[in-house]
Parts: sequence; C-alpha cells; structure tokens
Amino acid sequence: MKKILTAAQIGCGKFAWGQDLPNMTAHPDVHLKWACDVNRQNAEKAAEQFHIPHVTTDYMDIINDPEVDFIKIATSHEAHLPIIEAAAAAKKHIFCEKPMAMEAEEAYKIIRAVRRNGVKLCVDLNRRMSPAMHALRKKWQEHCADPQHNPWQYVETVREPLPEENLPHLNIRIQDESSSYGVQHLDPLTGGGEIIGESVHWLDLACWLFAPQLPTEITAWGSSRLSHGIYLKFDGGASMTLDFSCSGTFDYPKEQFELTHHAALFRCQHFVENNYYGMPSSGSETFALQHDPHPELGDGLDGFMKKYMANVSGSSNAKEQENTTPLLVDKGHRNMLDQFVLAIQNGTPSPCDELAGFRSTYLAQRAIESIELKQTLPIPLEKITPCIY
Ligand SMILES: NC(=O)c1ccc[n+]([C@@H]2O[C@H](COP(=O)([O-])OP(=O)(O)OC[C@H]3O[C@@H](n4cnc5c(N)ncnc54)[C@H](O)[C@@H]3O)[C@@H](O)[C@H]2O)c1
Repeated sequence: MKKILTAAQIGCGKFAWGQDLPNMTAHPDVHLKWACDVNRQNAEKAAEQFHIPHVTTDYMDIINDPEVDFIKIATSHEAHLPIIEAAAAAKKHIFCEKPMAMEAEEAYKIIRAVRRNGVKLCVDLNRRMSPAMHALRKKWQEHCADPQHNPWQYVETVREPLPEENLPHLNIRIQDESSSYGVQHLDPLTGGGEIIGESVHWLDLACWLFAPQLPTEITAWGSSRLSHGIYLKFDGGASMTLDFSCSGTFDYPKEQFELTHHAALFRCQHFVENNYYGMPSSGSETFALQHDPHPELGDGLDGFMKKYMANVSGSSNAKEQENTTPLLVDKGHRNMLDQFVLAIQNGTPSPCDELAGFRSTYLAQRAIESIELKQTLPIPLEKITPCIY
C-alpha cells in the first residue's frame, strides 16, 4: 500500500498560494500538516484557506516533528541553505523552489547535505515537466530516429553536407513585464535578479533536452538583473539561445520555444500549443490549462488569448485578477510534485535532483560573469560534474 506522506510548507507567499498550497492539498498521497512563514499573518492566512492544522514562524518546529516526511520550500532564495541542512540532518526529503542556490559554493553545501544524509532533493525547475515540453521532446526524438521530409524539400546536390550542419538548436524567446517584479527578486541578497531567479529555468531546460550532452561554453550579454541574452553551447554540438526581454507586456504570452534539427521545426507556444513543421507528420497539438475559468473559449494559443482578455477585461490590476480567477497554463508544477512523491514512495530518482539544481545555478553565475567580462567563458568539465559527497 502507498504511504501517505506528511508535508510542511515553508514560505507562504505569492508562489505558494498559486501552486504549492493548492497542489499539495489536492494531492491524494500528501497530508499538508504545517504552514510556516516568518510573517505569521502569511502562515495563518494559508492555514485558514487551505485547512492546514499547524502554524509556525520557526521552521525548526517542522524539522523537530518526527511525522514530517518532506518539506516544500518557497521562501526567498537566501533562506534555502540553512533550511535544507537542518531538514537533511533530520532525514526529511526536500522539495525546493528554484534557484536551488544563489552561488556555486552554496550549491556544493546543499549537495553534500542531501547526499551524506541519504535524503531526496527535488528542485522545482518545472519547465522540464510540462506536458507540452514532453510532447515536443517526443516528436523531436521520433524525427531524429528516422528523419522524413516533405517531397518539396530543396536539397543542394552540388556540395557535401557540412560538419556543423544539422545540429540541434533551441531558440527561447521570453517577454515579461518588469513593472511587476518585487524588490525581493531584484535585491542582490535575497533574489539576485532575473538570470539567477528566472533564467535558471531555461538553462535547466536546455540541459534536460540535450542530455547526455554537457554544456561547454557560455556567452551572455545585457543586464544580469533585467533584459539579457545567453548563448549556450554543448559538447555534442547542440546549442541554445535565450532572448529575455523585461520590456514586454502580460497581454501577450511570455514564453516561446523553437527547436530546429534535421530540417524540421518543433515549436512550443506558452505551453498551450505545439506546432511541428518540415516533415510529413507536421501538425499541431494543444494542451489543457492547469486552471481554466473559460473552457468555452477554445484551446491553443488563440483560445488562450481570448481567455486572457475575458479574464482581465474590467479589471484594474492584471496580476491581482490572475490571483482571483487564475488562468494558469500547465508549466509542469503538478507533474513535478507527482513525480517527487512517487520518488519518495518508491525509492526512485528525484525528477530534478541536486546536480540539476547546481548546474542551473553554476551556469547562471557563469552567464553573469560573461556579461561583466564581456567575454565567452568555458564551462570546464570538472566544474559541471562536481565530485562531492
Ligand atoms: N517555479 C516557478 O515557476 C516559480 C514562480 C514564481 C516564484 N518561484 C519561486 O518561489 C519562491 C518564492 O517567491 P514568491 O514570489 O512567493 O515570494 P514571496 O516574497 O511572495 O514569498 C516568500 C515568502 O517566504 C517567507 N520567508 C522568507 N524567509 C523565510 C524563512 N526563513 N522561513 C519561513 N518563511 C520565510 C516570506 O515571509 C514570504 O511570505 C522564490 O524562490 C521564487 O523563485 C518559482
């Protein structure tokens, strides 16, 4: 029989309200016993809304509770290390928000704490768990196994294929509205800006998609706390370009991904629609929203746009409106929780472990260095595969 896991939420801010608290209370194998926040009001509000029996402002109350199997951390970034070290020493499993750490040194200590104590860590780099990204990867892998092209594809016959032809490239376009960013995400002590706070998602996604290839080189430009670009090269020839603008608008979807390989294009539009081009099996797939207040308005990108407008029209605060009647695309948060619960129950690997958490932090830090030095930087093999126990 499957064990019901007792859990505790540490950090009951905006993200916890949008994902952790609803997802954990709805999970059939999770009993959410504690709500913890240094701000007592936040913990009490969460406990009341989600019927959580115990409230505290001190996470050590949770660490000292022998019934707790795992903790979920959604505090500001700088609080992760002491909480993880205490939880691991008490043999509790840990589900931690991204970024796992703000610096490599901190990440090394986290790796050591979880490995020495034999507990599982899952970092919520959730894009890798979204249904749309899994569908895109499947379609791409099928094409790679047997590349088929349309009869009208033009192929130059005078020359041989070049060695750097037909390598996979992932193009990521992010547009976001920086007026909404809280000071805690930009403060160098608690947040560190958008590369360490947000771009870890897409650095992780590229590493996950192109595994077992490892990154070898990084070039970044722009501002480490707001708009920036990153080019990441892998040892088997794959590459990723991220173009992140903070000067955009919530009125258009934030994330678009285009993977090109073997004369084909695999596109994911904001986790609601994928389109495939360049092969006989081209076409589109749409994906259900995580929370949909207007299912009658259709699916895919067009449906999402109609739903967004229906949701915000008449409102004076797009962000607040999203909180009242959330229009949530499925970026993989629930799948990450499901897979982590199964990993604890069955003793299987974490869906996004401490090494993935370290890698995204290390790559983000290298990107920041690249901006400061205005240089392309190597990613040494011994740095990206640290030997720690
Ligand atoms: N995976 C994603 O897609 C995603 C999206 C948004 C935010 N996040 C992450 O969620 C985390 C929280 O972001 P947020 O927007 O909710 O911030 P927030 O400021 O709204 O919430 C953080 C909460 O943690 C509490 N807190 C801080 N230190 C604490 C400690 N030592 N013990 C207990 N509580 C403590 C604060 O009082 C606050 O209530 C960040 O790490 C952020 O990167 C992840």
